Amino acid sequence: DLDMSPASQRHTPPTSDTIQTKPFPIRGERANYVNSPHVIAMVGLPARGKTYISKKLSRYLNWIGINTKVFNLGEYRRHVTTAYKSHEFFRPDNKEAMAIRTQCCLDALQDVCNWLRTGGEVAVFDATNSTTERRNMIHDIVVKKMGFKLFFVESVCDDPQIVEQNIREVKVSSPDYLNMNNETALNDFLQRIDHYKERYQPLDEKNESNLSFMKIYNTGEKVLVHKHEGHIQSRIVYYLMNIHIVPRTIYLCRHGETYHNLEGRIGGDSDLSSRGEEFADALADYIQEQKIEGLRVWTSWLKRTINTVKGIPAPQERWKALNEIDAGICEEMTYEEIQSSFPDDFASRDKAKFTYRYPRGESYEDLVARLEPVIMELERQGNVLVVSHQAVLRCLLAYLLDKSADELPYLQVPLHSVMKLTPVAYGCKVETIPFSIDAVDTHRPKPKIPGTLDEKFKKLNSKNP
Ligand code: ATP
Ligand code: F6P
Repeated sequence: DLDMSPASQRHTPPTSDTIQTKPFPIRGERANYVNSPHVIAMVGLPARGKTYISKKLSRYLNWIGINTKVFNLGEYRRHVTTAYKSHEFFRPDNKEAMAIRTQCCLDALQDVCNWLRTGGEVAVFDATNSTTERRNMIHDIVVKKMGFKLFFVESVCDDPQIVEQNIREVKVSSPDYLNMNNETALNDFLQRIDHYKERYQPLDEKNESNLSFMKIYNTGEKVLVHKHEGHIQSRIVYYLMNIHIVPRTIYLCRHGETYHNLEGRIGGDSDLSSRGEEFADALADYIQEQKIEGLRVWTSWLKRTINTVKGIPAPQERWKALNEIDAGICEEMTYEEIQSSFPDDFASRDKAKFTYRYPRGESYEDLVARLEPVIMELERQGNVLVVSHQAVLRCLLAYLLDKSADELPYLQVPLHSVMKLTPVAYGCKVETIPFSIDAVDTHRPKPKIPGTLDEKFKKLNSKNP
C-alpha cells in the first residue's frame, strides 16, 4: 500500500517502482465532472509563472466544485535541505543536490498519488519538470502505474523584462533569500535560471507526441494545445487562455438600499430607498474621483443595480447572470415569513446553505454555475465595477479570495460599501470602503440552532411593516 505518513517521516524512500497501483475509487460526484483523477504537471524555467498559474487554476477548479490541491516541489526541497546557500545547488553537475531534488520529486509524487487515491480530484504538481527524463518519470508513475490522467502545462517566456519583474515581485522575498538584499537575490536567481537552461527541454509535439499538454507563450500571447483529453482538460485550457497579468482593479458593490431591504424582504425588483438614491450619487462621485482608466460597469438586469450606477459616466453592460439568487416560492418574503410558512425549508437552508435549493428557485451552488461566464469575462477585462447583489457578490468574492463553499454563503457584503480588489503576488488584496450613508444590515449569520431567527430580523419586519 502507499505510505500515508508525511514525506519527511518516511524511512524507505519511494522510487517509481515502490509506488504501487491500486484501482482508485470513483465517487458519484466525481464521475460527473472528472472521469478519473487528474495530475496537472507544470513545466518551465524558474520565474515563468508556474506557481501563479497553479494557484489560480486550483482556486478556479475548487470554486467550480472540483476538489483540487497544489503540490509545490520548492516546499518539499526547502523542507529537507537546510538553509539555501546559493544557485550552486541547482548546477546540473551537482550530483548530491541532484539526488536530493529527485528524491523530493518522488516524495511529492507519492503525496500526489495518495491524495488522489483518497478523494482528491485534481492535483497540480508545481515544479519545473523541465526535462524529458523527468516528464517520462511522471508519466510512468501517474499514467502507467496509477491509471490517472496527466496533462502538462508549460509556460514559455523569453521576455527578460517579464522575468525580471517576476523575480522582483515574488522571488526576492522567498524564504530562500531571507537575509539577502534584493539585488544579490536577483542575481542569484538569474544564475539559478541559467543552470536550468543548460538542461531545459521544452515540451515538443514530435519528441513527446504521446503526452497531453498545452504551452502558454509570453503570458498568453500564443497558446498551443496538444492532444487534450476530455472535459476537465478542455475547461483548464479555456480558463488558462482567458487569464492575464496586466495590473487592474475590480470594484464590487451591492445596489443602494431598497424598499425591500427596509422591510427585510428578499428578492423581488424593488426601487431604491431615499438612502439608496443617496448612495447612488455618492458612488458616482467616488468613482469619478478615482479616475479609473478604461473602467467598465456591469450590473444585473434588476432596476436596483441599474439605478445605482445611473450617474456613472462609463460604458455599462447588463448581465442577467448577475441577478440575485432566485428564492423561488420564498421570493419577496421576509425571513420571518419563510420561517413560519416553511419551517423545514428554513432549517434545511441553515444546515447546508451552499447546496440548499429554494423550491422552484436556486441554491448558491447553482449561482456559482450561472456565474462561471461572468468570471471568465472578468478574467479577460481591465478595470471593472460590478454592481450586483448579496448572494451573487458572495460567489464572486469566494472565487477572488479563495473561500470555501462552507464560508461562501456567509461572507460579509454590506450595503453602501465598495470592495476594491487588486491582484498581488499569487492572490488578491481586498480593501473595503464604507460610505457614510446608513443602510439596513441584511446579513443573517449562521444560527447556532438551524431554523431559528435572530431578534434583529423580527424587529426589522415589525419596524417596517
Ligand atoms: P519557480 O520555478 O521558481 O517556482 P515559477 O515559474 O513558479 O517559478 P512564479 O512564482 O509563479 O514563477 O512567478 C510569479 C510571477 O509570474 C507573477 O509575478 C506573475 O505575474 C507572473 N506570471 C504569471 N503568469 C505568467 C506567464 N504565463 N508567463 C510569465 N509570467 C507569468
Ligand atoms: O436580503 C437581500 C438579498 O439580496 C436577497 O434578495 C437574497 O435572497 C439574500 O440577500 C441572499 O442572502 P442569504 O442567502 O443570506 O439569504
